[in-house]
Amino acid sequence: MRKIVVFASGNGSNFTAIVEAVKSGKLQAEIVGLICDQPKAYVLQRANDENIPAAIFVRSEFSDKNAMETAMLNQLTEWHADWLVLAGYMRILGEVLLRAYPRHIINIHPSLLPKYRGKDAIGQAIAADAKIVGITIHYVDEGMDTGESIAQFMFEVKEGEDRDSVEHRIHALEHQKYPAVLQTLMEESK
Ligand code: GRF
Repeated sequence: MRKIVVFASGNGSNFTAIVEAVKSGKLQAEIVGLICDQPKAYVLQRANDENIPAAIFVRSEFSDKNAMETAMLNQLTEWHADWLVLAGYMRILGEVLLRAYPRHIINIHPSLLPKYRGKDAIGQAIAADAKIVGITIHYVDEGMDTGESIAQFMFEVKEGEDRDSVEHRIHALEHQKYPAVLQTLMEESK
């Protein structure tokens, strides 16, 4: 069974979707840990509720990104992590993790990349009056939401649809598709 570590900074609804997919057998993998950079993030509560070990790494406690990622790598090695799955992790990864996990770090972004990289992608799409919106699941590289795309899913914005509705549909799509794409990756890497 492949071992996954989820990286998250905030709410963690995708973390929960992945955990639920494992529980139901839709995702055949083991979630061996959560890495979080925000001590107050709600995702830590979710991990605790699921009895999934969590490790917190606060950037200000390390001299630089490499030092922080070296500490993370020690934890990942201890957990025997095979895959790193980013789900709302709000930091750019550096060379320590990228070199340790080539083509084994995945991210989900709430836009049809290369459109609307970075923060508040849904807000960016709405401000641009986008008619088609969606999500991208992609490999992680050293850029911000620039890695090779694995899969995209999209839908049409309804006439007069407000932000809350679009956001809700985007998140629902994420929760459905992220575990499914991860399962495909697990199967391909057997
Ligand atoms: C998601 O929209 C994801 O695409 C983006 O950050 C958000 C995380 O939401 N990278 P959550 O923390 O999983 O609820």
